[in-house]
Amino acid sequence: MEEKNKHTNPKPGTSRRGFLKKLWGVLGIAAGIELTWITFSFLSPGKRKYNKASTTNLIVAGKVADFKLNSVFPFRNGKFYLIRRGDGGFLAVSLKCTHLGCSVLWNEEKQEFICPCHASSFDKNGVVMNPPAPRPLDIYPVIVEEGIVKVDTGNPQRRKSFDENQIVYA
Ligand code: FES
Repeated sequence: MEEKNKHTNPKPGTSRRGFLKKLWGVLGIAAGIELTWITFSFLSPGKRKYNKASTTNLIVAGKVADFKLNSVFPFRNGKFYLIRRGDGGFLAVSLKCTHLGCSVLWNEEKQEFICPCHASSFDKNGVVMNPPAPRPLDIYPVIVEEGIVKVDTGNPQRRKSFDENQIVYA
């Protein structure tokens, strides 16, 4: 009988109550660390999300003459596609799918952007042809100065539809 109790009665430090006490202690410390981190992140000036949209990040895409008419040029590092239309206009669309953010791929044969994740597709202006993507691809401002095309990737713009006013001419 005494032998049996030896196995069922743990040492005082390892009792269930002791374990729960330690667990609460550890959770309390973790919560404290998280609270400190959240407070620090909130007070840190450079990290606020609402500052992000107002920054300028100009990427020099190249000379106007370098972009063939009726073509789509990927800029993977800038995370956009630069579209040169048949009429010479430029449109820069984000490569981020508006469904869940996968990178869309340009399909030259079909002349559309296709998302590899859930098969959304977008036409050459970035407009949804096939859901589940809920809206067109975001666009970036295009600036043409002295024959040089630049794209401001710091200012992505949401849109509900395509409008000719989104096209920039040299
Ligand atoms: Fe593109 Fe879902 S992330 S269709």
